[in-house]
Amino acid sequence: GKRVVVTGAASGIGAAVVRKLVASGAAVIAVDRVASDDHSVAEMVVGDLSTHAGVLAIADQIEGPVDVLVNNSGIAGNHPWRTVLAVNALAPRDLTRALMPKFGAAPVVVTTASQAGFLWQQNYARHNAFLAIDDWEQALDSIADLPDLDTTCYNLSKEAAIVFSGNLAVDGKHIGLRSNTVSPGTVGTPLLPDFTTTMGEEAINGAATWAGRHARPEEIADALVYLASSESTWITGADLPVDGGFSALVFRSYI
Ligand code: NAI
Repeated sequence: GKRVVVTGAASGIGAAVVRKLVASGAAVIAVDRVASDDHSVAEMVVGDLSTHAGVLAIADQIEGPVDVLVNNSGIAGNHPWRTVLAVNALAPRDLTRALMPKFGAAPVVVTTASQAGFLWQQNYARHNAFLAIDDWEQALDSIADLPDLDTTCYNLSKEAAIVFSGNLAVDGKHIGLRSNTVSPGTVGTPLLPDFTTTMGEEAINGAATWAGRHARPEEIADALVYLASSESTWITGADLPVDGGFSALVFRSYI
């Protein structure tokens, strides 16, 4: 089976991805800051993706070859903005970079972004400049002058994740690497209350009211697993909304 690294594997969407991958015969290397109670995984790597040193320590513990990397771990905007940008955008960039020498042929990277990142094209230049700075503190300092970072950091982090993934698709094309993002709307996971705190009950419940409900974690995992599989060989550089149509609605009211 394929060797697949999944971050944020202990809970929610990541745990659902692990269950589906294990059922399909993959060897899963589960990464999280907490040990999961899922004993079906081939390896469990406990570490912290909120610092550059933490990312490198995690990568060190992962043996190649790695066929697929699922950058799924993430936090909501109820943390300091620097941490939100670090975990949601810089960690995927640098875990991917650190695992590059351990990738097998035609590797696949899939990243969990968010409906909250759907305006990434508007801020493309800024995110590209941010992502071009290797040093985390310097990268974060470079955006410190943006207004309202405490309220916008989650959206920014997910826009940056989408830009990172698209850049990777372009840069990795010559080695047969594919890279895509999945952008969920609201999902019924332990993270959901954190969004209610930061975005307000109205925004979160409004999305679910229009869509009919929150997504089940498995519905997001299905999309991630599809993009990780050999059934999506011609899809790269894409962002796939998996939100019951909510982004289509928001786009229309935004325009
Ligand atoms: P969750 O909280 O159930 O799972 C996230 C996992 O990531 C947890 O096990 C947590 O320990 C791990 N994690 C967080 N920070 C970490 C760190 N510094 N180092 C190592 N591991 C860390 O959340 P959920 O909902 O499954 O989220 C997965 C992804 O989906 C995230 O990227 C999130 O932003 C995204 N997402 C979730 C939505 C939702 O409504 N739940 C909506 C849109 C996107």
